[in-house]
Amino acid sequence: MIAQSEGDTNLSPRRREWAERNLDAEARTLLVDDEKYFLRQSVSTPCLNAIVKAEGLFIEDTAGRRYMDFHGNNVHHIGYGHPRLKRAITDQMDALPFAPRRYTCGPAVALAEKLATIAPGNLSKVLFTTGGSDAIEVAIKLARAATGRYKTLSFWDAFHGAGFGAAAVGGEALFRQGVGPLMPGAEHVAPYASYRCPYGTTSIEASGEACARMIDYVLEKEGDIAAFIAEPMRAVPHIPPPGFWRKVRAACDRHGTLLIFDEIPTGLGKTGKMFASQHDGVVPDILVLGKALGGGILPIAAVIVRPELDVGAAHAFGHYTHEKNPVTCRAALATIEIIEDEGLVANAAKVGAFALARMNEMKSRHPLIGDVRGVGCLLGIELVVDRETRAPANDAAEAVLYAALDKGLSFKTTFGNVMTLTPPLTVTEGDMARALDIIEDCIAATS
Ligand SMILES: Cc1ncc(COP(=O)(O)O)c(C=O)c1O
Repeated sequence: MIAQSEGDTNLSPRRREWAERNLDAEARTLLVDDEKYFLRQSVSTPCLNAIVKAEGLFIEDTAGRRYMDFHGNNVHHIGYGHPRLKRAITDQMDALPFAPRRYTCGPAVALAEKLATIAPGNLSKVLFTTGGSDAIEVAIKLARAATGRYKTLSFWDAFHGAGFGAAAVGGEALFRQGVGPLMPGAEHVAPYASYRCPYGTTSIEASGEACARMIDYVLEKEGDIAAFIAEPMRAVPHIPPPGFWRKVRAACDRHGTLLIFDEIPTGLGKTGKMFASQHDGVVPDILVLGKALGGGILPIAAVIVRPELDVGAAHAFGHYTHEKNPVTCRAALATIEIIEDEGLVANAAKVGAFALARMNEMKSRHPLIGDVRGVGCLLGIELVVDRETRAPANDAAEAVLYAALDKGLSFKTTFGNVMTLTPPLTVTEGDMARALDIIEDCIAATS
């Protein structure tokens, strides 16, 4: 069976047919060897293609074809291979390539200070990890230690990473099954949605209201939940209504539950504000960053918390080998400076508004489009067989995906029928118009 999850499916006949038509000999060999040497896993195996170059907005495959990368795993906020970032990394490798544990170093401290400066509210104490999933584990451990409770509440359908804790708070069967018991006490609640609302509502306001009320209800009934953990904007994407997070924040405060925001994809400007949580003016107790923090070159993630949560002096929540790696820290610092100096957050907001207006026009022209939504560089176009029944048009979404690849645009589908567009923050209105032209042409050809 084909798993429909946050990644697009890679086992379909359309995928095979696209690969047969497009892959050159070098890519075919690499794909065969990839499958031979890597442990196979759902969504990762087989790969789509093999690439040899990533620069700015573009990736290039072994056959020399360039694709605008409107996926980029949300790591490429500043575009791939930013020259200023590469220089900073090279300089740092020359000056100090590593800091063994027990030693601190300038770049790690400078990054910690910078994050404290840009983070919302009084979030100001940090720990760094190598990847997002590990940072989620640290956040959960910290919430447990600070509250003396062990349970968590999170959304079905969410993805928070592959570790045991992260998979437990995640809400996708694909990442939870087949490995025995996960973290105990991981409770889930249905998320809000403007379209296909699990609470059966027909507006985002009503959905947000029902969802916030359910969160409050579960927190009260359960009574001893350490943390509510969620992405402030669901990467599917789904954008919460104004006031939603303020209600959840109040519910968490009422029940002694900490609020953890996973901003691994949305942080550092993706949604047109430095942090997605700032759209609703809500400060979490724990904020988790990752992905783009390493500038699309190096892996680094961070947990940023209120100083009152500095309760782990007698424990070791995140004593990772690369906890204070000067090169990854310097990369993160340079990345934030590039985002600030180049005005990329404002650009994401501007180009995102342009895109949404155009996507709404496309919706008025094509019945295949059931819904469009998003903010900044986090955008989605949901395809349906019929607007009345809202039956997901998975086959059409796949057809559009491969037709768009043929025209030089790469994006992924989420849950089978949501074309998810997450370009870098450097994207211009011209790039965006070109990408949406491609998508519209492909939709017109599919309808
Ligand atoms: C919302 C969210 N949380 C956590 C993670 C896990 O991050 P990593 O893959 O760096 O472990 C991801 C990765 O896709 C994510 O999208």
